[in-house]
Amino acid sequence: MHPHIERILFSQEQIAQRNREMGRVITEVYGSKVGDQGIVLVSVLRGAAIFMADLARCIDLPVEMDYMAVSSYGNAATSSGRVRVLKDLSTDISGRHVVIAEDVLDSGLTLQHLLSMLQARGPASLEVVALLRKDVPGQIDIPLFQTGFACPNEFVVGYGLDYAERYRNLPYVGVLKPEIYM
Ligand code: PRP
Repeated sequence: MHPHIERILFSQEQIAQRNREMGRVITEVYGSKVGDQGIVLVSVLRGAAIFMADLARCIDLPVEMDYMAVSSYGNAATSSGRVRVLKDLSTDISGRHVVIAEDVLDSGLTLQHLLSMLQARGPASLEVVALLRKDVPGQIDIPLFQTGFACPNEFVVGYGLDYAERYRNLPYVGVLKPEIYM
């Protein structure tokens, strides 16, 4: 275990197992309706890229992969929930079945804005798969098609999640030792 990690919450094996389960559900649910066109998997850079890359390989359908980059205005406590798009999708999602692969649902502001923005483009369907749903007070009620794990409200890093751009490459999700960020 990395010396800056207090404890592991979700191991590499647990995450891989859960990804296989969620990929199987996506394959079953979308298999009959998407045909050759398949689905469009979307992730928000940067944290979710690792989750999406693994989830994509657990889906037995044609999968297009596309990415967005956004930045939030202000902090979660004061923001109106608007996010600024730094990089938009390359794919025209009109009429397409779109699945957003998100690493963590925290305040919910990012997904709230993203969902309304993408919904306005007329996809055939739009769903969210989140690896982690953090247990935070006041979280916006975002409907999730699937959730990997319920996550305690702690400072978690790894498997895409960072602190100051570090720890994204840890293969597990763990709690960062407080002395690292205090
Ligand atoms: C994280 C995460 C989500 C968002 C969730 O991204 O990847 O996109 O925050 O938070 P919310 O529910 O409070 O909106 P972050 O802004 O840390 O960027 P990163 O992916 O580059 O680490």
